Amino acid sequence: MQMTQRWIRWPAGTHNRTPTEGRNGPIAFGGDYNPEQWSEDVWQDDVRLMQEAGVNLVTVGVFSWARLQPTPDTWEFEWLDRVLDLLHEHGIAVDLATATASPPAWLTTAHPEMLPVDRLGTVLHQGGRQAWSPSSVVYREHSLRLVEKMAERYASHPALSMWHVSNELGCHNGRCYSELSAQGFRRWLRERYTDLDTFNRAWATDFWSQHYGTWEEIEPPRIAPSFSNPTQQLDFARFSSDALRDQLRAEVEVLRRHTPDVPITTNFMVMGHFKEVDYGTWVDDLDLVSNDHYMMAHDPEAHVELAFSADHTRGLAGGQPWMLLESSTSAVSWQPVNTAKPVSQLRRNSLTHVARGADAVCFFQWRASAAGAEKYHSAMLPHAGTDSELWRSVVELGADLQRLAEVSGSTVDSSVAIIVDYENWWAAELDAHPSSLLAYRRTAEGWYRSLWDANIPVDIVPRGADLTGYRVVLAPMLYLVRDADVAALDSFTRAGGQVLVTYFSGIADENDHIRLGGYPGAFRDLLGVRSDEFRPLLGEQQVALEGASLGALTGTLWSEPVVPTDAIVLATYTDGPSAGFAAITRAARGEGKAWYVSTELDAIGRRAVVDAVCAAAHVTAPIGATAGVEVVVRRSADVEYVFAINHTPQEGSVAAAGTDLLTGQVRPAPVLIPA
Ligand code: GLA
Repeated sequence: MQMTQRWIRWPAGTHNRTPTEGRNGPIAFGGDYNPEQWSEDVWQDDVRLMQEAGVNLVTVGVFSWARLQPTPDTWEFEWLDRVLDLLHEHGIAVDLATATASPPAWLTTAHPEMLPVDRLGTVLHQGGRQAWSPSSVVYREHSLRLVEKMAERYASHPALSMWHVSNELGCHNGRCYSELSAQGFRRWLRERYTDLDTFNRAWATDFWSQHYGTWEEIEPPRIAPSFSNPTQQLDFARFSSDALRDQLRAEVEVLRRHTPDVPITTNFMVMGHFKEVDYGTWVDDLDLVSNDHYMMAHDPEAHVELAFSADHTRGLAGGQPWMLLESSTSAVSWQPVNTAKPVSQLRRNSLTHVARGADAVCFFQWRASAAGAEKYHSAMLPHAGTDSELWRSVVELGADLQRLAEVSGSTVDSSVAIIVDYENWWAAELDAHPSSLLAYRRTAEGWYRSLWDANIPVDIVPRGADLTGYRVVLAPMLYLVRDADVAALDSFTRAGGQVLVTYFSGIADENDHIRLGGYPGAFRDLLGVRSDEFRPLLGEQQVALEGASLGALTGTLWSEPVVPTDAIVLATYTDGPSAGFAAITRAARGEGKAWYVSTELDAIGRRAVVDAVCAAAHVTAPIGATAGVEVVVRRSADVEYVFAINHTPQEGSVAAAGTDLLTGQVRPAPVLIPA
């Protein structure tokens, strides 16, 4: 990953600037602005209220295609000209969308073959959004024509501060099984494998009589009578991510040609449930990384998931500041029950993103829609208008962010990394595995949670990230590994690092073929252990573990009869299918150590192991705090910014002293943090 960051080009006269702001200027504050849903007199109110709230950046045009090009040969940009002029006059910078996210009805009517198709063969029609197949040449041509027009027209508009390619690429059309996609998939496979022999070997097509004699016989993994070939499924996930990236690249090429100096982003969806795109392979195409993050109302740990996603986004941004381009001020409109956020939570959530490296806090959307499928989604300006608690808290948040402006450009230092990799997420959760109960991200989040509890900063990094400088690396469920991945962890350990690998790691190569000779496959040597079979546990089943220093622990989901080759045993299974065998081990390698955890530990067990690993690496929390107070430190050349966020219903404290940027008061240690 070599991304070189370029930040928002703030226009002269941007609203809400302060003399003390940091390297990236003010913290961007704003949201998606959809003026086409309102009459022009409302726009006047919008800009006035944006100023009142301290808004300095809005995303415009995301779903404007049908308004900009009402027929194949007519273009209507004048309304958008007026929007951009108005915003500029009021000092609001514009993150201008390429407007390609949702094609107009005239296009899908003329070319129904461009519609996406799901795995069951159902065509996904016009009437929602994103009704296009990433493999459609017609869509590509029409969308690029639009991008050309946008880039030509707005290249020198003074409000243009950055480009926003499409919208949440892959959100609804991430996997398309249409005939066009089948053709694209075949082309992709030919490029990857060159000849059919190599291809047939990679897909292990001698199994179940799947041998392919010509490229034309190959299909996407459409619904089949039984499990589809796992390599077919994995390659299709790779292809689908690449097909979306091709659209991104094509749009980026147009934009760079017209505006080489304007930074380009596309809004990622780094959050719990979204795994359609391998973002680690996209970042080099962008100038800055941005994310959309929404919390799941039913998740009592949603604030930890938020921290995980923020750290993951920062990891994708190579440790540089990033933009929170969408979040919600309160309820969303797409969950079974869309609970409202208490206003204190709006502040906590937004400032947690800033603590973890966001130099932008933006929302979907500026003004709550009066109609359409998202009319019940919260916004910065709710249906109730300015006489509302929500509006008042949005205005307060804007003021908070202005007070924090000097933080922008500062970074978070971590000596712990967790490898989280989309390809592994896909592969580890394929069907016909030893257990369908394994959940890749949940396991990674579990380990993260233990570090979060301990207030130890963590970078969540993609595969292939440079591990130099870390003292601890966690590799939860790193199921599919290339030799280079194993070698990197081996050198990291020998050079003095502590590496922790969990069950179901090192099992397969990049084609999802088993690494033979016993488990955990590619990591047998590094970890100094071997198991001759998996012994997964049933849903409610628990197993007991006992270790001299770790004490009594509980495992679920998985067990293995682990036999150390040269590792020492830290805990042993005392019951269950692997009773008597090692459960947690540690091997000395060079200057470092390699730890193996062969079951899913509960929170207490994970914390005990994390504490032991961190103690071995001499990693501690940078600053002490009472339980439930989340502490993150951002650093610039000569200042430490301590964010302390209290998630409990009681007053807490943090062992720091300094100037409280939100109030201006100088505070001695410990600083009390209200409930
Ligand atoms: C996504 C989209 C927005 C909106 C929000 C609603 O993030 O990008 O257009 O639909 O979800 O939460």
